[in-house]
Amino acid sequence: MSKRVYIYTVGCQMNQLDSQLVADLLGQLGYQVVESTRQADIILFNTCSVRQHAEEKIYSLLGRLKHLKRQHPQKIIGVLGCMAQKDQEAIFRRAPHVDLVVGPGQLVHLPELLAQARRATGPVLAVSPWAEGLDRRTLLAGFEPFDPPRRPQAGQPPFQAYVRIMSGCNKACTYCVVPRVRGPEQCRPPEEILEEVHRLADAGCLEVTLLGQTVNSYQYHSGGRTIRLADLLAQLHQIEGIRRIRFLTNHPRHMTDELLQAVRDLPKVCPCFHVPAQSGSNTVLRRMQRGYTVEYYRQMLARIRQTVPDAAITSDFIVGFCGETEEDFQQTVRLVEEARFKNAYIFKYSPRPGTKAAECYPDDVPQAIKRRRNNQLLQRQNQISLEENQKFIGRLVEVLVEGPSKLGQKAPETQATLQLTGRTRCERIVVFPGDRRLAGQFRMVRITGATPTTLLGHLEEQPRGSSSQPECEMLLPLLPISAPK
Ligand code: 5AD
Ligand code: SF4
Repeated sequence: MSKRVYIYTVGCQMNQLDSQLVADLLGQLGYQVVESTRQADIILFNTCSVRQHAEEKIYSLLGRLKHLKRQHPQKIIGVLGCMAQKDQEAIFRRAPHVDLVVGPGQLVHLPELLAQARRATGPVLAVSPWAEGLDRRTLLAGFEPFDPPRRPQAGQPPFQAYVRIMSGCNKACTYCVVPRVRGPEQCRPPEEILEEVHRLADAGCLEVTLLGQTVNSYQYHSGGRTIRLADLLAQLHQIEGIRRIRFLTNHPRHMTDELLQAVRDLPKVCPCFHVPAQSGSNTVLRRMQRGYTVEYYRQMLARIRQTVPDAAITSDFIVGFCGETEEDFQQTVRLVEEARFKNAYIFKYSPRPGTKAAECYPDDVPQAIKRRRNNQLLQRQNQISLEENQKFIGRLVEVLVEGPSKLGQKAPETQATLQLTGRTRCERIVVFPGDRRLAGQFRMVRITGATPTTLLGHLEEQPRGSSSQPECEMLLPLLPISAPK
C-alpha cells in the first residue's frame, strides 16, 4: 500500500512544530512526504482556530478537494489540530469527504487512526473530552502530550528547531479559544527537554526556540525543587553546539526578575521578548480578563529595559474588541507610541464560538471601524519599526544565515550569489547578497539600509585573527565551537 502524505499547515509556531513532528513520525513509519495533493495518498490539514479567517481558509481548501476525492475515493483526507478539536463532527457535516478528524491532544495516536481510516469503515473522529465543569484531572488526561522522539535533522532547516516545553494554557482570556482546543497547561519534564536539545545539537542544530502559549509560566516540580524557565535556560545554555536560545510567547504576569537576569547573564539566550499587551485600555483589558493593567504592563516594559537594555520587545494587539471605544483605542495607540516595540502583530477581533467573550459580550465594533483602527495602529507601529531599524545603519551585526530570500529563491539553482536572509540575535531579518552555501553559518553583515521589517546590508569579511569588535551591542560573544565527537 503506498504511503505518500501531504501536510498543509496554518497557524502559529506550535502548529508548525506539530506538523514537523507528524511528518517525522509518519516518516519513521515508512511514509513519504510529498509536495502536492495530487501525488498524495493521505492529505492532512493542520489547522488553526484563533480567528475565523484561518478556519474559512481551511473549509475553502477542503471544498476544493471534493472533486479529487470523488475521482480517487481511496485518498484519505484528514483535519488535524485546533479546528478539529473545536468543530469535531461538524467538520464531517460541512465537508462529508473528510475521513479523519484529530484534535491536538490526540495526535499521538495518529498512526493507528490513519490505519483505521484506511480500512474505510466510516469517518474517524479522535478529540479530547471537553465540557463545561469537567474536572481538571479528566481534562488533563484527555489532552495527551505529543512530543515523539525526532530523527536527527528532522526539522527543516536542520540548524534551527522549535522545542515544545509546555502545551495548553491555564489563562482564561475571554476572546481566546486556545485553552479550549489545546487544553490545560502541561509542562514537559526538564530532563526530556534537555535530552531533546542535546540530540538536536548533536545533529547540527545551532538555534532552538522554546515554545509555550505562556512560556514564561513554565514550572516543573521534581525532587522537592521547582524548575522554572530561568533554570531551564541556564541548563540549556550549557549544551555544546547550541549558539542561540529563544523562547515565546510570554505573558506579562510571569516576567520575573529571575527570568530577566537569566536573559541578561546567559549570552546564548537572545534578548527578545514577545509579550503581548492586547490593549492599552484598562477597561478593555478587564473585559479581556488579561489579569493586568496597562500601568503594570508599562512597569514590566521598564523592568525589561532596565535589566536587558538592548532587548527587542514585540507585542500582539487586538483592535475592535467588544465595547472598545475610540478613547480605548487611542490609549492603545499611546501605548504603542511609548513602548517602541520592535514590531507588533495587530489583529481585528474575531468572535470565537465557545469563548466567554462570544457568549457574554456583543461584537459591537463595526468591521469598517475595526479595519480603520487596524490600519491606523499598523501605520504607527511601522513608522516606529522603521525608525528603530534605521538605528542599525552603519553597524555590523552577526547573523545566522537562513538561506535564499524570497527574491533569491527565484534565482536559478546554478546561480551562486543571490539575495540571502539571515537573522540577528534580536530577531531582525537581514537581507544581503551572498553564496547560498552560507546557509547555517554565522556571518558579519554591515547594515546599509532599513525598511520597517528588514535590514539590508553586505557581508563583511573579517580579516583572520582580527580583534576589532563590531559595533553591534546585539553581538553574541564568540563562543567556543564544540570539538568534533
Ligand atoms: N480575535 C482576534 N485576535 C485574537 N487573538 C487571539 N484570539 C483572538 C481573537 N478571538 C490574537 C491575540 C494573540 C494572538 C496569537 O492572536 O493577539 O496574542
Ligand atoms: Fe489565549 Fe490568553 Fe492563553 Fe494566550 S494567555 S493562549 S491569549 S488564553
